[in-house]
Amino acid sequence: MNILLLGSGGREHALAWKLAASPSCSQLFAAPGNPGIAECAKIVALDMADHTAVIAFCRENAVDLVVVGPEAPLVAGLADDLRAQGIAVFGPGRAAAQLEGSKGFTKDLCTRANIPTAGYERVTSLEAAWGALKRFDAPFVLKADGLAAGKGVVIAETREEAQEALSDMFDGKFGSAGSEVVIEEFMRGEEASFFALTDGEMIVPFGTAQDHKRVGEGDTGPNTGGMGAYSPAPVLTDTLVDRAMREIVVPTVRTLGEEEMPYRGVLYAGLMLTEEGPKLVEYNIRFGDPECQVLMMRFEGDLPALLMACATGDLSKADPVRFSDDTALTVVMAAEGYPDTPQKGGAIELGGAEDDGAKVFHAGTARGDDGALVASGGRVLNVTARGRNVTEAQAAAYKAVDAITFAQGFCRRDIGWREVEREGTDPK
Ligand code: AMP
Ligand code: GLY
Repeated sequence: MNILLLGSGGREHALAWKLAASPSCSQLFAAPGNPGIAECAKIVALDMADHTAVIAFCRENAVDLVVVGPEAPLVAGLADDLRAQGIAVFGPGRAAAQLEGSKGFTKDLCTRANIPTAGYERVTSLEAAWGALKRFDAPFVLKADGLAAGKGVVIAETREEAQEALSDMFDGKFGSAGSEVVIEEFMRGEEASFFALTDGEMIVPFGTAQDHKRVGEGDTGPNTGGMGAYSPAPVLTDTLVDRAMREIVVPTVRTLGEEEMPYRGVLYAGLMLTEEGPKLVEYNIRFGDPECQVLMMRFEGDLPALLMACATGDLSKADPVRFSDDTALTVVMAAEGYPDTPQKGGAIELGGAEDDGAKVFHAGTARGDDGALVASGGRVLNVTARGRNVTEAQAAAYKAVDAITFAQGFCRRDIGWREVEREGTDPK
């Protein structure tokens, strides 16, 4: 089949790598792509915000399946427009995409479907927000309703800080994402990510992962899109995965279906493992970045066939999902200054990073005029390796990191620390 992959980050490089490796894939096109994706796909000039152009491209090039990497095109309804033209697409339509596009939508859905999550109130004015705040205790969780590139959540320790953050939100700090705010109860526990694939009817688990959101070692400093991740996440035991499926993911997909907002694609559930069991923190309507990189490093099946089955309602006929028992771990190499103002243009040499089976996914790279690789984004490379457990995968990933020359880059040296500590006391 001919496939068009949309996106330009490390997540899309990992998807491109797996899609292109399958005998089911005749031709892989990618837009806008990046230099890593260019090694496995034909890069085409296509603006994914221009739905008419995407449809025309699919027609002209006999594209059988469109795989959408990021959330924004899905929230903008690209999947609906493609489906209306009979083009298969992996990713939900606009209505179901509200799961990521609107925090209030997801919380209300949790209420209707009786899904465990933090108690909350939705507010649309500063006055209402200050009033609602009285009904919550510290720490206060405040979320701008719409897409805010992962930056719309504030956890305030004091009431004063919370009031200040609410003022900022209603003052437009997060643009239109802040015209509505969700105030939530604070949940205690360890966070983990759970992925499921669905065609709207059948739902299959698609792995677990944990990431490190803070920029600094020991999980300190500002939040980022993720500085590293590993899969599987041993804290998400089979029992907890069963509960997350039964209590969270299945009722979500069923309720969306009943309400005529069918979900097709990957559902990424951010979970808090509380004393009472797993509770939903948030949904994403796409693969995680960098979680996708570790999932793809372990995935053993035919990715184009599986994603096509999700897109066309044929998941029940697809081969069972298979993952390697190995652990995969990815370290994000970022440009100095990330997450605030990353320095662009830093020279990169990959050296022998991939010599021992590691894989370097490109997240924010470009080719200079001379063809040399340079940094062009905040998160630049995702250095990914496998091992029998997190400790071994971590050692292999850092060995590959050390083979790379990227003077204006940095990475955390402790990705996977929680599990490495646990494995240290309980070696596998
Ligand atoms: P979100 O964008 O909704 O995933 O929120 C970003 C981060 O804020 C999450 O990964 C959690 O670490 C934290 N967070 C969000 N909601 C809550 C909550 N209700 N209780 C505790 N932490 C939360
Ligand atoms: N790594 C977090 C995300 O993709 O949203």
